[in-house]
Formats: sequence, structure tokens, C-alpha cells
Amino acid sequence: MTRFTLNGRPLAFDLDPQTPLLFALRDAANITSAKYGCDDQSCHACTVLVDGQAVRSCTLTIARAEGAVVQTVEGLAPDDPLFSAWEDEQVSLCGFCDPGFMCALSALLAVNSAPTEEELAAIPNRCPCGAGPRIRKAAQLAARRIRQASAPQAVQTADSNLTEGFSLGSGGDGN
Ligand code: FES
Ligand code: FES
Repeated sequence: MTRFTLNGRPLAFDLDPQTPLLFALRDAANITSAKYGCDDQSCHACTVLVDGQAVRSCTLTIARAEGAVVQTVEGLAPDDPLFSAWEDEQVSLCGFCDPGFMCALSALLAVNSAPTEEELAAIPNRCPCGAGPRIRKAAQLAARRIRQASAPQAVQTADSNLTEGFSLGSGGDGN
């Protein structure tokens, strides 16, 4: 029996430990967002998060996922900026590559909310439909929204310092 947490649910898999994680997700756990897009480990459509790292689930056996926290796109928060950015930039064509790209970008943006174009281009996922440029635009939009979401506290601190400084300065002028 192999156990790991999938999208917040602890699960046990009675499968050959050498089963690729992708097949356990799709055929046993009925999570079909992770896609089987190639037979040479090149497409990355099968990308999921394992302990926060983007991995190709076709290359990882469930034995190596034992005890891990596995997330597919269904496990991302509903208000994850990637979802709104995808919609706002009208990314999806056939949509086959979307879940893998979102998992890869989620891992990147978790550690780097200001990715360069080069860093985005270095993501190994591929979109045969040609949505790559729109995907990178959506990634930049999601990154901006992540930065904006963490900005209000800094603004408030700056305002509060300004108010305090002004008050002290006024007092000084009056003396
Ligand atoms: S299915 Fe293509 S890299 Fe995993
Ligand atoms: S593979 Fe069709 S939209 Fe990317």
C-alpha cells in the first residue's frame, strides 16, 4: 500500500509501487487534469506538484511519492491568481496543456513573484497549439497580482510613518 496526500486528502493506493504517479492519479484517483501527452517524457503536460516542486508525474513512481503532499491543478486555491490571469488573457485554446503549465507556474511563482521573460521561457512545458506567448503574459499578470496582494501592508506602513513624521515636524515648527 502506498500512501500520500492528494489535494488535501490522505489516500492509500493498492497498486504496484512502480506505477507512475500519473496513472495512479488518472486511473485510480480519477484526477484527469494531469495529462498523458507523450511517450518520451518531453511534453510536461503531466506536471503536478510534489511537496511544492513541479514534477512530471509520468516519470515518478508512486513509491517515490510515498508520504508526499501531491497537488494537481484542482488542489490550487480557487482564488489563485493564475486562474483569473488565464481567463483575463484568454489563454486557453484546446486547454490540454493548461493544468501542467499552471502547476509549473504555481511552483515558480511561490518562490519568485517577479519572474523574468527568460525564467518563464525556461519552463519546460510545451503548448503545441501555440498559446505559449499568452501563457507567459498570464504568468506575468498573475505575478503582478501576487505582488499587489502583498503590497497594501507596505503602503500602510509607509503612510503611517509619513503621518507620524509630519505630526512630529508640525509640532517642531510650532515651537
Ligand atoms: S506525459 Fe509527456 S512528459 Fe509526462
Ligand atoms: S496544447 Fe492546446 S492549448 Fe496548449
